[in-house]
Formats: sequence, C-alpha cells, structure tokens
Amino acid sequence: MEITLTGITTTGTPHLGNYVGAILPAIEASRRTDVRSFYFLADYHALVKCQDPALVHRSRLEVAATWLALGLDVENVIFYAQTDIPEILELTWMLTCVTAKGLMNRAHAYKAAVAENMADPDKDPDKGVTMGLFCYPILMAADILMFKASKIPVGKDQVQHLEMARDIAARFNYLYGEHFVLPEAVVDERAAVLVGLDGRKMSKSYGNTIPLFEPEKALRKLIMRIKTNSLPPETPKDPATCTLFQIYQAFATVGETAALRERYAQGIAWGEMKQLLFEYLNARLSEPRQRYLELLQEPDHIEQILKRGAARAREYSAPFLQELRRAVGIWPLGQG
Ligand code: TRP
Repeated sequence: MEITLTGITTTGTPHLGNYVGAILPAIEASRRTDVRSFYFLADYHALVKCQDPALVHRSRLEVAATWLALGLDVENVIFYAQTDIPEILELTWMLTCVTAKGLMNRAHAYKAAVAENMADPDKDPDKGVTMGLFCYPILMAADILMFKASKIPVGKDQVQHLEMARDIAARFNYLYGEHFVLPEAVVDERAAVLVGLDGRKMSKSYGNTIPLFEPEKALRKLIMRIKTNSLPPETPKDPATCTLFQIYQAFATVGETAALRERYAQGIAWGEMKQLLFEYLNARLSEPRQRYLELLQEPDHIEQILKRGAARAREYSAPFLQELRRAVGIWPLGQG
C-alpha cells in the first residue's frame, strides 16, 4: 500500500490561507482508504522557531484542536505528535552522521538567514543561526524515512527539503543497504493561494491574516478592514482584482461564484459585499469553531487521541529502528 505522510507545524494560529491552501485538502485526503497515511504535529520542529515554552505548549493544543474540529479522520489515519515517537530522534542522529555538511549549507532557509546577516557588515554571518535551524532538514528526513513514506504532500517551499531527504536516504542506503524508501514531494498546483487584508498573499510574516477561528465579532471587523478600491455603489466592479471575491471563491461552489460575479457586474456596494462575505464565512466556520472551542476545554481528550496515534505509529517505528541499529552496527554484545 502506498504510504503518505503530512507534517503539521505547530507554530502560529491557523488562518484562512492555511485552511484553503493546506488544511482543507489534507483533511479531505484523510478519508482516503487506498493509502496508509501518517499525520503528525511537528513539535520538535517548533522548537527551532519558538523558545517560549508557554507558546510551544499552547500551539500544540490549538493546532491539534483545529485539525480535529475540522474533521480529520483519526480512525483512518495515524495521528500523533512527533515528540511521542522517540525513534525519530535516534534516527535523526543516524542520518546526521551520513549527511554532508555541504548539503545543509545549501538549504534555502539557512542561506536566507545568512544572507540577511551579510547585508549588515557588523554582523556575524551565522548570527542567530542555531544548529536546530541548520539541521532542520535532517529531522524532517527522519520524520519521513521512519515510516517509509513515498508521497509527501507539501507546499512549494518544502520541495528542497524533500530533495534533501532523498539524498540523505540514498546515502544511507549506499552505506548500509536498502533500508529506506526514497520519498517524493507531491505539490498540489491547484491549491488555492489566498490574498490577505492588504491584497498581498495571506501570510503570518506579512501580518495580514484572518485567523480561522476568530470569534464572530472579530471576524466581521477583520473583513470590514479588507482593502478595496474606491469605486462607488452601482459602478460595475472587477472580481479578478478583488480580495473579497477571491476569499469568497476559495470557499464557494462554482454556481455561487458565478452568481456573485453577476452582482459585481451590477455594481454591488463594497459595504454590502463585505457583509455578504462575513455572513458566508461565518456560516461555514461557526460549527467547526464551536467544536474547536469545546475541544480546547478537553485537552486530556486530545492528548489521549495523540497517545493512541503514537502507539499505532510506534508499531512501525520501533521494529524498524531495531533493524537500522543492526544495520549500522549497534546490537547486543555477544550476539552474532
Ligand atoms: N517543514 C514542514 C513545514 O514547515 C513541516 C514538516 C516537518 C513536514 N516534518 C515534515 C512536512 C515531514 C512533511 C513531512 O511545513
């Protein structure tokens, strides 16, 4: 059976852009029965970006609650926290020992951090670069190789990490025999890219996001803040360049979108359109938002789900790690 694996970073609050671009397709895919799927919280990875314990803890809870509230099928997929699988870290070390430093030197995220430092002649090129950031791709390779996953749905920004995982796996296989499956990135070119409040791509780094489970009042306020042009009511408007329209379209059916296009041609007023978008999104999100708030009140229940997922995942990782230990020469003394 084909094996797929989806890593979910546990930093930041999920926003509408994450939802339509990544979360929604992944949750739909969680119902597929023709593949074996692993879904996990990448909480070791979170430590690279965030050193505030309260925030790390909170984010794990919020992200897990978000995915559960939106209907992740945890009976069908194996859903766990990376930090509940000790084998991942041991494998990370084995992989670290066969990974060329030169390969890591080429990683985009690391290079971007160095380039930013170099722009300032007074700064050390490696200022603020931890070994966690530098070795991030090795940990990610371990996530994937541990479960012999061959198809990894990711955004374009992660494609290089997948190439590195393949390189690392091939190097290990060359040294120690064919233990790993070489993984492949699956990039969904149709995945919607949402624009944010200011008309640029919706992204945490631009501070222009609409959080997915914003309370009703705050959601309305944010939508009222979305930038539009200053065309008066009754003047025909162009949906193609309109953020309001694009957000609506990401959620609506083809028929609903066509009907709204018609209203743009008739010159719908911006105030009316914003109210319409608010009501539409609110209707779609209020039920999962309610479930989300309930789940936040039941952290023990979420923990239990994760622990059960970890037990299922370890049925694969524990024996495989024994095989890998043997492959590299670690087995009980006195045994052949
Ligand atoms: N690096 C990924 C991201 O930032 C998250 C991630 C960690 C991941 N481990 C993974 C994704 C393994 C896919 C497979 O989105």
